[in-house]
Amino acid sequence: MKKLLILLVIIILSIVSYFIFFHSKNSTEEVNISNVSLDEVSAKLELGKALYYTHCASCHGDNLQGQPKWKTSLDEDGHNYAPPLNGTGHTWHHSEEQLYNIIRYGLKFYNENYEGKMQGNDKLSDEDVWSILAYIKSVWPESIQKKYKTMTKH
Ligand code: HEC
Repeated sequence: MKKLLILLVIIILSIVSYFIFFHSKNSTEEVNISNVSLDEVSAKLELGKALYYTHCASCHGDNLQGQPKWKTSLDEDGHNYAPPLNGTGHTWHHSEEQLYNIIRYGLKFYNENYEGKMQGNDKLSDEDVWSILAYIKSVWPESIQKKYKTMTKH
């Protein structure tokens, strides 16, 4: 009887440890999977940030803050100043597709008579443009990022 009890305890213990092992193995796999995608996300943001500094910061500012008088006056050529892209302007009112088109093709994509400063960047690849966009969105305050996600049509 005692032997049987010991055997039973051993069996239960091995079942329990099997599950603990199995479970912990699963959760480390999950962690690994999310690490990979986190790496991918941060690589994309790094690329976007570097491209932003090369192609956009001269007008939109190092901190995406835009040019100071963007709301109130025009530059010496009579064109609009660059607006902020950091979430304080109206950038987030545009759909991702619209932002893509503005960045890639310039505002003339939506207005063929456009002669202002936001010209296209046709040397940028698809991936470049999406990376820049990802970087810009990552700078927006969390509340705006949330709102943006829930907006369907813009
Ligand atoms: C030579 C200056 C200049 C450069 C360089 C430039 N922009 Fe602009 N951008 C502007 C101006 C000016 C506007 C406002 C358009 C207007 O009203 O004429 C604008 C508008 C925009 C808009 C629309 C913003 C909104 O709130 O509606 C986005 C998005 C944008 N730019 C992104 C970029 C990105 C990304 C880059 C780099 C790849 C870039 N711009 C490079 C001057 C520039």
